[in-house]
Amino acid sequence: MGIASAVQAATSWWAVYYSDHQMVSAFVGYLHLVGLMVGGGTALAIDRQVLASARRGDTGRRATALAALRGSHTVVIPALALVVATGALMTVADLSTFLGSQLFWTKMVLVGLLFANGAGLVAAERAYVVSEQVTVWRRLVAVSGASFCLWLITLWMGVWLAVAA
Ligand code: HEM
Repeated sequence: MGIASAVQAATSWWAVYYSDHQMVSAFVGYLHLVGLMVGGGTALAIDRQVLASARRGDTGRRATALAALRGSHTVVIPALALVVATGALMTVADLSTFLGSQLFWTKMVLVGLLFANGAGLVAAERAYVVSEQVTVWRRLVAVSGASFCLWLITLWMGVWLAVAA
């Protein structure tokens, strides 16, 4: 038995339960969006703050953005864990559809890039705290710009997936 069919067998009760209970499927989808609003909203707000501090020598804004960034992980990481958990619940509720969907895999690649980029953001933040060098701040700005774009592109993939998977 392949991994996909083993997962399908282990979770078939959930697929049935999910499709039989609209309140449950609505609630799981709602929690996916809660994680996105709280985690994605926080992340986007901070990306904007970092981008706004890109101007040469704007050390005041940099300090404010850095403080916001450092305080954000305790919100963003649990919220993203909720997004991943609810995403997994929705995936196994209709496994064969999603595993066979190119759109789904495109979204997963984007989610991977988003998370890897987030790790890069944390790395750049830590490097800046140690060195306080302008080149490191520029890296932080570039990674924040990528984060902003990846959030919005992944959001589009999520919406499109719900329509066209
Ligand atoms: C590992 C992470 C993720 C998994 C496994 C996942 C999986 C899914 C699945 C299976 C659906 C349901 C599609 C359908 O109803 O046919 C969905 C909906 C959605 N996802 Fe994700 N997702 C993940 C992360 C994300 C991220 C990071 C974003 C945004 C940046 C996102 C945005 C959305 C949106 C907007 C919807 C549509 C909600 C709706 O219209 O009801 N997802 N996701």
